[in-house]
Amino acid sequence: MVTMFAANPAFPSTKPVVETRSTMITRREGLKSLALAAGALALGSQSHPASAQNAAEPHKVPALGYDYDALEPFIDAETMKIHHDKHHAAYVAKLNQALAKHPHLAAKPLDALLSQLDSQPEDIKNDLRNHGGGHANHTLFWQCLKKGGPAPTGTLLKDIETHFKTQQSLEEQLIASGLKVFGSGWVWLAMRDTKLVVETSPNQDSPIMSGAKPLLGIDVWEHAYYLKYQNKRADYLAAIVKLINWDFVAARHAGRA
Ligand SMILES: [Fe+2]
Repeated sequence: MVTMFAANPAFPSTKPVVETRSTMITRREGLKSLALAAGALALGSQSHPASAQNAAEPHKVPALGYDYDALEPFIDAETMKIHHDKHHAAYVAKLNQALAKHPHLAAKPLDALLSQLDSQPEDIKNDLRNHGGGHANHTLFWQCLKKGGPAPTGTLLKDIETHFKTQQSLEEQLIASGLKVFGSGWVWLAMRDTKLVVETSPNQDSPIMSGAKPLLGIDVWEHAYYLKYQNKRADYLAAIVKLINWDFVAARHAGRA
C-alpha cells in the first residue's frame, strides 16, 4: 500500500520506490482501483455534483478508465499521466474554487452551467468557461479514446455516411480541422440540431456552449501531444483518429451517454 501511494503523484513521497515485478503489478492494480473509485465518485458528481461530495470540492477528476500506457505507442504514458493527473486536475481545482463563490451553483450539472453561460454570475463566468469547459472537455476526451476498438456501425455509421460519405472522409475532416485550430483548442464531431458536424473551438470552449452536443472531442492543445510529437500536430491527429472509441461515440449519438 505504501509503495502504491509513494508512486502516485497525488501522494508524493521522498522515499525512492524500488519496483520489482510484483510491486509494479501491485502498483498498477492499486492505481486502477483508486482511479475507478475516484471515477465512480466523479461520474456521480456530474449529475448531482454536491449531493454526496465535500461542498468545497463538488467536482472531482474522473477516472481515466484505463492504464496510462493503454494507448502506447500512439499516445505515450507520460503524456497521459501529466495530462490527466495535472492538467485535468488543475481545471477541476479552479472550477471548484470558482463555484465556492456561488455555492448554489455547485449542485447544478456542469453541462447545464456551460449551456447557459451568459446567465451565470459575471465574476465567475470566465472561470466556468475556461475551467468548467476544461473539466467537461477532458472528461469526454478520455472516454473517446480506445486502442483497437471496432469501427462505427449501425445508426452512427449511416449518419456518418449521410453527412461525410465515409468514415475515412470524416477522419480526414477531423484532421484538417484540427490543423486549422490556431493555438490551443479542440476539434469536435457534434450533433448540431439534427446534423452531424465537424467543428472546432478555441481554448476550452465546447459545442455545449452554443447549443450542440459533442459526440467526440479531440484535444489539440500542445499539452496533449508535445512530449511525443513536438510540433508535429498532423502526426498526432493522424494517430488519434485511429484511437477513437466508436462504441462510446455511438452511445453519445444514440443518447445513451
Ligand atoms: Fe488537454
